[in-house]
Amino acid sequence: MNKISSPMLATKPSASTAVSGCARALKAEGRDIISLAIGEPDFDTPAHIIEAANKAMGEGKTRYTNVDGTAELKAAIQRKFKSENGLDFATEQIVVSTGAKQVIFNVLMAIVDPGDEVIIPAPYWVSYPKISRIAGGTSVIVNGTAENGFKVTAEALEAAITDKLRWLILNSPCNPSGAVYTADELRALADVLLKYPQVGILSDDIYEHIIFDDQKFTSIIAVEPSLRSAPLRSTVSPRPTA
Ligand SMILES: Cc1ncc(COP(=O)(O)O)c(C=O)c1O
Repeated sequence: MNKISSPMLATKPSASTAVSGCARALKAEGRDIISLAIGEPDFDTPAHIIEAANKAMGEGKTRYTNVDGTAELKAAIQRKFKSENGLDFATEQIVVSTGAKQVIFNVLMAIVDPGDEVIIPAPYWVSYPKISRIAGGTSVIVNGTAENGFKVTAEALEAAITDKLRWLILNSPCNPSGAVYTADELRALADVLLKYPQVGILSDDIYEHIIFDDQKFTSIIAVEPSLRSAPLRSTVSPRPTA
């Protein structure tokens, strides 16, 4: 007998995947389509990356590695955090996975207990509530307002905090709104979070380098390093550039 688990049955395909499938089908028909569905640049993978991947495969680097990433890659990520973000991480604090969606899934499975509340500022990337629910958590959606550039304020964050709240997912630059939290806005959120040490932060920074104006990326941990002293606070970062 085939049986699909209840969490999987309750999980519908993501809207962005469905839209990008439609866009691909229309392109295949020869229509001129610009798809904004998926967080993907409009240029091909740069040649030096393709060359490095080919070279590595030619050198036989096609085998299992340590589950948390090769020592070389983790050292490169450590250097990236230091040089680009001013953050010091030990290599034991760095875990590599095969993409942000997988690492977020792994993190939420590892940290969310049934009944835990997870604050997700809206508008949000479609997969956060689904993954939180699969992990047994309850999403608490806190709306950013148009007047505030679709970002959540410290007041809205604090108003949503309950005894059951365990996690806040922050995504700046944000998919889909493009909102980038300023250091001052993160400072205000950090001031609230410092009062609630039971609340962990998952900072999804994957669009750190995709900013189209003169706004500046910074992460909440860089703004308030002492937030890292909470038991588990996670940062999802793009691939290292060095
Ligand atoms: C905010 C955000 N986080 C994570 C992901 C997943 O990234 P990946 O393709 O590396 O799994 C996406 C993809 O659209 C995203 O927009």
